Amino acid sequence: MLRSILRITLLALVAVLPRPLTAQSAEAIDFHKRFEKRCFSCHGHSGPFMREHLTIDASGTLVTGTGQPLETFLLRHAGGLDATESPLFLSVFRKQVETGGLFREKCIVCHDRAYEMARLDLILRDGQVTGRYSNRNIGEFLLTHGRLTPAEAERMTDVFFALLHGRR
Ligand code: HEC
Ligand code: HEC
Repeated sequence: MLRSILRITLLALVAVLPRPLTAQSAEAIDFHKRFEKRCFSCHGHSGPFMREHLTIDASGTLVTGTGQPLETFLLRHAGGLDATESPLFLSVFRKQVETGGLFREKCIVCHDRAYEMARLDLILRDGQVTGRYSNRNIGEFLLTHGRLTPAEAERMTDVFFALLHGRR
């Protein structure tokens, strides 16, 4: 009797648990959906591709391998990006380049890709990157986790924020 009550309670709980996708804002979902549809077949996942091919030049502009501003390049490439896609794609790519290999260098031994981590473990609460289940303030947590300098911790938190928020 007790067992079956427990079982039913558990099943009910599982049914009402939020699905991982709710961790993402509409915009983040939008980016990944659009990238997958428009770019993935030729380039694979955007993080590794963009980190390998793009750089930020001395004036702070995101440029392609030939030094052309990415924004200009993407006007024509693969059918071009429309007015909503362009700022969204550019800001996500910039964040991906800015993290450099930081996540790969210091976190990937223990964690999945940053995007997966954000998607599965993190959530924005009151504009703060927060542990979905732990309810931790991740900005504070990273000051003493993963051997990051305070500046790196801030950058990493920004990256999670951008991944969750889909922009900036
Ligand atoms: C049909 C295949 C195809 C699709 C789809 C495609 N690309 Fe490309 N992409 C290429 C090829 C081939 C190159 C290298 C030749 C060139 O520069 O045009 C390239 C180059 C690039 C570069 C420059 C890399 C460098 O070395 O500077 C970027 C950035 C890029 N693509 C982004 C995108 C984005 C963003 C999308 C989706 C909107 C996309 N691509 C869709 C085939 C594709
Ligand atoms: C040596 C293994 C290891 C490394 C390296 C590591 N982590 Fe972790 N990380 C863990 C473990 C284990 C936990 C769970 C700890 C806990 O919940 O108390 C965790 C928890 C976290 C959490 C909290 C998730 C939540 O739900 O509260 C974040 C965010 C995180 N790690 C990010 C990073 C980042 C970013 C890096 C790289 C800079 C990193 N970690 C490097 C092992 C590691």
